[in-house]
Amino acid sequence: MKRFEDKVVFITGGASGMGEKMVRQYSEEGAKVVAADINEDALNEKWGSFDNVMTVKLNVTSDEEWATAMKKAVDQLGSIDVLVNNAGISTEKGMNEITIEDWRRLSDINGFGTFLGMKHALEYMKEAKKGSIVNISSYTALIGMGVNPYSASKGSVRAISKAAAAEFGQHGIRVNAIFPGVIETPMTKSLEDSQETVNALIRMTPLQRLGQPEDIANAVLFLSSDDASYISGAELVIDGGYSAR
Ligand SMILES: NC(=O)c1ccc[n+]([C@@H]2O[C@H](COP(=O)([O-])OP(=O)(O)OC[C@H]3O[C@@H](n4cnc5c(N)ncnc54)[C@H](O)[C@@H]3O)[C@@H](O)[C@H]2O)c1
Repeated sequence: MKRFEDKVVFITGGASGMGEKMVRQYSEEGAKVVAADINEDALNEKWGSFDNVMTVKLNVTSDEEWATAMKKAVDQLGSIDVLVNNAGISTEKGMNEITIEDWRRLSDINGFGTFLGMKHALEYMKEAKKGSIVNISSYTALIGMGVNPYSASKGSVRAISKAAAAEFGQHGIRVNAIFPGVIETPMTKSLEDSQETVNALIRMTPLQRLGQPEDIANAVLFLSSDDASYISGAELVIDGGYSAR
C-alpha cells in the first residue's frame, strides 16, 4: 500500500517550485491532491491532465476563497488529511528600501495566508479528530540574513506553527514547520545572474551545493505521513548545514 492512499492532501503554491514537486510526489504516493495557487494558468498547464490532482484557484490572503476551496475539496474528495502551507513570495529589498506596502504584502501572503489556511483546515481536522499540517517557513527566520521583511514574515510562520501544535495536539492534529535554505526554484532564479553569489553560497554551505525542490518535498512527505505520528511542533532546517556554521 502506498503511503498516502486514501488521503487528501491540500498544497498551496502548487503550480511552481517546491509546491509543484510536492504535488507530484504526493500523487505518486497515492494521495488525492488539491493543488491550489493564485496562478490558474500555471495550475492548468501543469496538472490539467492528472486524474488524481484537483486544481483550485486560491489567493491565500482571502478568507472567503479559503472557505470555498476547502469546502470544494471536502465535498468532492471527502476530507482534508494534510495541509501544506507552501505559497509564498520573497523580496531582495532590505529594511531601508522596503515600502510599507511591500511589508504588508509579504506579511499578508506569507504570514496571514498561513494562518488562514490553518484556520480553515483545522475546522475539518478537528471534526475528523486527525490531521497533519506542514508550514514552510525559511532559514531566514532563524538567522540574520539581511532580508528583514521576508524574515519577519517567515518568523510569524514559525511562531504560529508552534502555537498551533501546542493547541491542537489534543485533537489528534500535528503541526510542523520546515526551514529551507536556498533552494533552486523560480523564486531564486535571479541567482542565475550571478555565478559569484552562487559560488559564495555553495562555499558557505557545508554540503557544498544549493538545495533542490525534492530536498524539501521529501521532508514534507515524511512529516505529514504516519511515519511521523509522534512528531509535532518540530522545526526542521533543510539548508545543507548553512545555519549550523
Ligand atoms: N526557494 C527558496 O530558496 C526558499 C527558501 C526558503 C523558503 N522558501 C519558501 O518556500 C515556499 C515555496 O517557494 P518556491 O521557491 O517554490 O517559490 P515559487 O515562486 O517557485 O512558488 C511559489 C508559488 O506560490 C504561489 N503564490 C504566490 N502568492 C500566492 C498567493 N497570494 N496565493 C496563492 N498562491 C500564491 C505562486 O504563484 C507560486 O506558484 C515559499 O513559501 C517560499 O517563501 C523558499
